[in-house]
Order: sequence, then C-alpha cells, then structure tokens
Amino acid sequence: MKLATMSAWVRAASVGIVLALGTVGAHAADNDAAAQVAREATQPSNNAPVWRAVNSNVEHYSAIKTPEAGVLIQAGGHRWSVFRGGVITVYGGWLISLAITGVALFFAMRGPIKLKEARTGKMVKRFTLIERYAHWSVAITFIVLAITGIIILWGRYFLLPILGGSAYGPLLWLLKSVHNLIGPLFTISLIVMFVVYVRDNMPTGDDIKWLLSGGKRPAHRFNGGEKMWFWGGVTGLGIVVSVTGWILNSTVPGIDYFTREAMQLSNIIHGIASILFIAMSIGHIYIGSIGMEGSYDGMRSGSVDESWAKEHHALWLDDVNAGADHRGRRPT
Ligand code: HEM
Repeated sequence: MKLATMSAWVRAASVGIVLALGTVGAHAADNDAAAQVAREATQPSNNAPVWRAVNSNVEHYSAIKTPEAGVLIQAGGHRWSVFRGGVITVYGGWLISLAITGVALFFAMRGPIKLKEARTGKMVKRFTLIERYAHWSVAITFIVLAITGIIILWGRYFLLPILGGSAYGPLLWLLKSVHNLIGPLFTISLIVMFVVYVRDNMPTGDDIKWLLSGGKRPAHRFNGGEKMWFWGGVTGLGIVVSVTGWILNSTVPGIDYFTREAMQLSNIIHGIASILFIAMSIGHIYIGSIGMEGSYDGMRSGSVDESWAKEHHALWLDDVNAGADHRGRRPT
C-alpha cells in the first residue's frame, strides 16, 4: 500500500475513533473532528486533536457496567507509568547502588570495627529466644520481599536479557506470588517485633548525646542509631510498606479497587518506601554482621562477650552487673 493511501486510512480511522467515543462526548467529538478537518488543510497527517480527545480521560458510553469501563485511556495510568519507570526505577536504583557502594567502600577502607580489648569469654545475656525469633522472622521475610521486589521492579533490565521472555514471564509470576504471600507474614512479624522491642527503644536524652558524639558516648541497651533504625525504618517505613502492600493485595476494606488511581498511588508510595527501607537495611545488616566484631553473636546465640558489651553498651552492662535483667531493668 502506498504511504499516501495508508495515511488517508489512518486519518479516516482516527476520525472514526472520535465518533465511536460515544454519545455522551458527542459534542466534544464533533468539535475535535471539526478541528481535525481544519488541521488537515494545513498540516496533513497531523491528527493530534483526535489523540488529544482519545487521551482526555473523559468517561464515554460503554455497554460494560464497571467503573471506568467508558474511559478509553486512563491518563493517570500514563503518569503512573512514567513516574514508576522514569523516577522510581532510576533514582531508586541509584540510591540502592549508592548504599551498597558506600558500605563496600567503608569496609574496604576501614575494615570491621574491631574490639579494642580481647574477648573475656564471659558471656552476657542480651536477647531472649522470643526476641531473636521476632528479629529473624522480620529479617527473613524482609529479605525475601526485598529480593522479589527488586526483580519485579528491575528484573526486566538484568534478568530478561539473560533468561529470555518465555522463562522470565513465568519466573516473574512466581516471584510476584511469593511477594504477595510473604508480605502479610512480614507485617505480622513486624507487629510482634514492635511489641517485643518498643520498651527499650524509647528515646532519651542519652541518645541525643550518643548521636552528637558520633557514637563515642556510652549507651544503654540500644543506642541512638539503633533507635533511629527502629522508629524511622522498622516502624515508620514498616507501616507505610505494609499498609500500601495490603492495599495492593486488595485486602483493605473500604477502598475502590476498580478505579485504578488508588492502586497507582499505593504502588508509587510502596515503591518509594520500600527502596528507602532497603537502603537503610543495608547499613543495619552491614553493622550487624561483618561491620562490627562481636555484634552478630547476640542475635545468633542470645549472648555477647563482656568486652563487646563494655565497648558498645557500657551503661547497659553497668545495669546488668548491678543485678538488672537482660534488658537492663534493675529490680525495684
Ligand atoms: C541478615 C540480616 C540481618 C542481620 C545480620 C541483623 C543483625 C542484627 C543484630 C546483630 C542485632 C543486634 C544489635 C545489638 O545487639 O545491639 C540486630 C538488631 C535489630 N535488627 Fe537486625 N539484622 C538483620 C536484618 C534485619 C532486618 C531486615 C530488620 C528489619 C526490617 C532488622 C531489625 C532489627 C531491629 C529492630 C533490631 C533491634 C535494635 C533496635 O530495636 O533498635 N534486622 N540485628
């Protein structure tokens, strides 16, 4: 078919689409069709008015009686897609890469924070079994969600080229199902963790002093940095990712899941909060594992060496040595 004949067909079809938009928008369609005819004379093949009408987000007649069925193109969907693909994917990718690079550079330059004194071999109880179970349930579900979430958002850039569409599609479906299933378990674990840890994370003036001294002042059971992680990360971001996640799973009552705006907004907020959460968790996981000698012992076995306690939580150790329980609460 010749190009001129094709463009004539496209123009005819475009005017047809405007007319097909239905009786409710008939007047607007008439105007757009007239604008199109006028434009034809000066700018052949430019059918912008038609597409502006198609993209106008106006609800037209549809025999299907579900919300938004009469909207041919939902403009919010385009905004969502651009924001998700262009802002969250790009800047979120940078943030997580920066967090990983920062931690790796710090480790390469400074190595782990070593104990200044030799281990005494005397172990001090730091966490009960329930506290450790609560921690590891949150940590394990979080890591599964982080890995599956990263693949859902960025997998098309690094996995799709390797696996090809026919393997990547089913894999993505599987990972998305795992993500949707583990999400509620994460929220439940998070609630348990909050209840178990909140009492010892109440901010005090000592935390400010600890933070202002760059971590050099003695600390109680949890220091100012740990409390920031508890309130800003675990509690604050935990609530945001959980609430938006439950909405995306269509499980929160009272929300109109058929109109796409609620899902699009939840998806954007969920994405931003999750990325911030992952970036913060990289710092926590680093310091709780290879970044600080002796720190992992507490979460693994429940006890820490006395030298570690003295160097990192001296006020807590003073309380324990004075007869307090593992939380540092002295008998009254
Ligand atoms: C492999 C991953 C992880 C490791 C190795 C790890 C390690 C640790 C360690 C060693 C502690 C004890 C610190 C101390 O004795 O003062 C701790 C505490 C804690 N961790 Fe993790 N953690 C991991 C993942 C997570 C994740 C994913 C979260 C939350 C999303 C989390 C939340 C917490 C909280 C809330 C505390 C108690 C500190 C406080 O309440 O301020 N951890 N972690």
